[in-house]
Amino acid sequence: MSFNHISMAAQDWRLQRERFERLFGFRSLRLFTAQPGTPIEGCVSRIRNTPTEWEFLQPDGPASFVQKFLDERGPGLHHLAVEVPDIEEAVAELERLGITPFGGISEDTMWWMAYIHPRDSGGVLWQLYQPRPGTSMNGTQGEAGEIGFRRLDHIALGSPDLEAQAAWQKRVFGMEVEEPWEVPDQGYKGCLMRIPNSEIKFEILEPLGDEGFLQDFLAKRGKGLHHVSCEVESLDLALEAFAADGIEPPGGVGGERWKRNIFLSPRDTNGVLFQLFEEPSA
Ligand SMILES: [Fe+2]
Ligand SMILES: [Fe+2]
Repeated sequence: MSFNHISMAAQDWRLQRERFERLFGFRSLRLFTAQPGTPIEGCVSRIRNTPTEWEFLQPDGPASFVQKFLDERGPGLHHLAVEVPDIEEAVAELERLGITPFGGISEDTMWWMAYIHPRDSGGVLWQLYQPRPGTSMNGTQGEAGEIGFRRLDHIALGSPDLEAQAAWQKRVFGMEVEEPWEVPDQGYKGCLMRIPNSEIKFEILEPLGDEGFLQDFLAKRGKGLHHVSCEVESLDLALEAFAADGIEPPGGVGGERWKRNIFLSPRDTNGVLFQLFEEPSA
């Protein structure tokens, strides 16, 4: 398998794309329109220096599953997608693991697809797809956007049980734990996992103790995708660019324990919690 894209739901994909193009330098790759049985429209964008794409989904009509998602959870991360060489084999393998993709195998003009329900995966809607013959993806280096975007580093999941979650990710996707850590004074522990055939990592965070941002997140949203972490060329330049846009990171600059970083409020991104960090200068 290979990790292909991060998908977010928004009421207006054009506005959302414009926002991320301006801030992060995302570049449109292709648009898609609603089809019978697929009541969504949107676009897929290239993330600079990252072989992972970003999908913007907009519901086509009030009965769309994306409209239901927006009504229940608001705009934000919707699913993660992996490409598999053979969808039927992938589904058979999942069934051997005791996981039944809901809705069976579906198709559109580009892909055959199957979905793992969040209740089976620890809170993530996983899309598995096999491209139909003749479908080609392309990409460009892209630009850095206003804030000096460098690359996507990892996607993080909030979970009440890190060990069980890591075991699931390993069993189903072959991910390997790289470095576990604990931050008791901020009330969480975590680990990074290597995703096979991918440069981006998967992070799992579990609450430690009774209080902290993660406890609040799990109580409010339930287990699921928590943040997306990206490297910028310079955190100070990014802060300046945000300030010019009237965007201020609510928690200020952190990073005593890790790299200098900020979190953007999901209010400023229309529902996605972004962490931005810079590599320490040598
Ligand atoms: Fe998708
Ligand atoms: Fe993170």
